[in-house]
Amino acid sequence: MLIEADDGSIVCDPWFLPQFFGSWFVFPRNDQLDSTLLSRVCAPDFLFISHIHADHLDEQWLLENMDKGVTVLLPDFPTGELERTLRNLGFSHFLHTTDQQEITLRGSLVVAIHTETSITDGPGGDSAIVVSDGSARIVNQNDCRTNDLGALRQHGPVDLHWLQYSGAIWYPMVYEESPEQMRELVDAKVASQTTRAMRYVESIDATAVVPSAGPPCFLDPDLFGFNMITGEELTIFSDQPRFLDALSKADRNGILAIPGTTITIDSGALRIDHSLPPAEIDAIFAEKEQYLRCYQQDWTPWLDAHRATWLPATPELLATVSSWWEPLMVAAPTVCDAIGACVLLRLGDLNIILDFPARQVRQWQGEPAPFRFEIQRELVETVVARRAHDWSNALFLSCRFTAWREGPFNEYVYNFFKSLSEERMVRTEAEAKRKLDPDRGGIADETIIIGGYELQRTCPHRAADLTVFGEISGDDLVCTLHGWRFDLATGVCRNADDRSLRIRPCPQPD
Ligand code: FES
Repeated sequence: MLIEADDGSIVCDPWFLPQFFGSWFVFPRNDQLDSTLLSRVCAPDFLFISHIHADHLDEQWLLENMDKGVTVLLPDFPTGELERTLRNLGFSHFLHTTDQQEITLRGSLVVAIHTETSITDGPGGDSAIVVSDGSARIVNQNDCRTNDLGALRQHGPVDLHWLQYSGAIWYPMVYEESPEQMRELVDAKVASQTTRAMRYVESIDATAVVPSAGPPCFLDPDLFGFNMITGEELTIFSDQPRFLDALSKADRNGILAIPGTTITIDSGALRIDHSLPPAEIDAIFAEKEQYLRCYQQDWTPWLDAHRATWLPATPELLATVSSWWEPLMVAAPTVCDAIGACVLLRLGDLNIILDFPARQVRQWQGEPAPFRFEIQRELVETVVARRAHDWSNALFLSCRFTAWREGPFNEYVYNFFKSLSEERMVRTEAEAKRKLDPDRGGIADETIIIGGYELQRTCPHRAADLTVFGEISGDDLVCTLHGWRFDLATGVCRNADDRSLRIRPCPQPD
């Protein structure tokens, strides 16, 4: 996204190359942009990278294409990973911002960057940017799930709200489930992501909403089924027309933006110019399979070359992983105890068990493991060789694995895999301690009332404020931030055994 104002320009999250082991491609494609536009994208005054996931931080493209004289707007993240990565790519001008605080960049160009730093959203953090030039205001929320709904609106009325609405995770598609069960899980996930997006739409109340930051498309033949084409596919990657339809049903003004689209804001009026004729734009969605097949054909040589970079099996994989992870387990007793079981990694001819209670990584001898991942060994060899410290970003988002678990979701399993460095694990352990400590106090202990029920104010999943995200649906209280459901009668969580909600019907007056 390129924002141009009289006093300067800002490029946000320029993503061009396929990511996550060649799984995610930009959709609609942006590999045919007009060269004049592309040269403006490569040489803005300011660069904003919302977070370090590869579909936002496209390292190779930045290295090869972006003007290194640009000033990088750094979100107020708790770790220095983003700055370090960008310095390694050759950037040297950084402007450190403070969470939510407005800062004047030049003349009338003002920004405020809002950060989210929960471990489960990525230990490095995620962020949204509010940009104003004195006559118009844009919120680029992308996929930042801000907990405080009012915060992004506090800077004044918003003309354009750019927002993620589509799935951007491997769940539930990689799980070993029956087609019927998978249908239910996929539908529930799509419904919850739409509900969440609509909640943001209502609270920011912009003149227009632009569906953005997804979905990706999948061109590798192994993954092509993850594209939502007819709507029948078992996938969460719903596309722009579906969300525009939801916006229209809610009487909201939605704008379709594809690569090359320009939206001009002039005294509050919006003008939209697409770089393609209307019939070609319609065909992207109406004849999506054909569009994707054509795109696939163009990138098949790239995909073949990319696959050839995956590393072959090495004899020292187990020893490398155990010497890397066992000290991290010892440093994170709360996280290990919260997992409380073994996790099995099946890598073809090598099976590794992560024994969290014993803080050990060893070869599997058939012991029970209530969590299981099956992953092509070459992918694991590649991320281990890179010492990737966030396997959510480096491996799982590729969707190139299958998973199984005996019981409910346990967020600490993924938190462990997202925190494979000392710097990250310290924060992950601290957050686990804070969350699991019964004496933590604060709003977690507050009681609120929703629809005739008294309940705790924070969601047991990731502490979303239920005054904002709580909704009653049938027999359940639903937290619409991620769609977790709790039985109204008992508080039992339908997504995880160990996360019940304190809830009871409001006492009746005598
Ligand atoms: S915070 Fe995730 S469902 Fe409530």
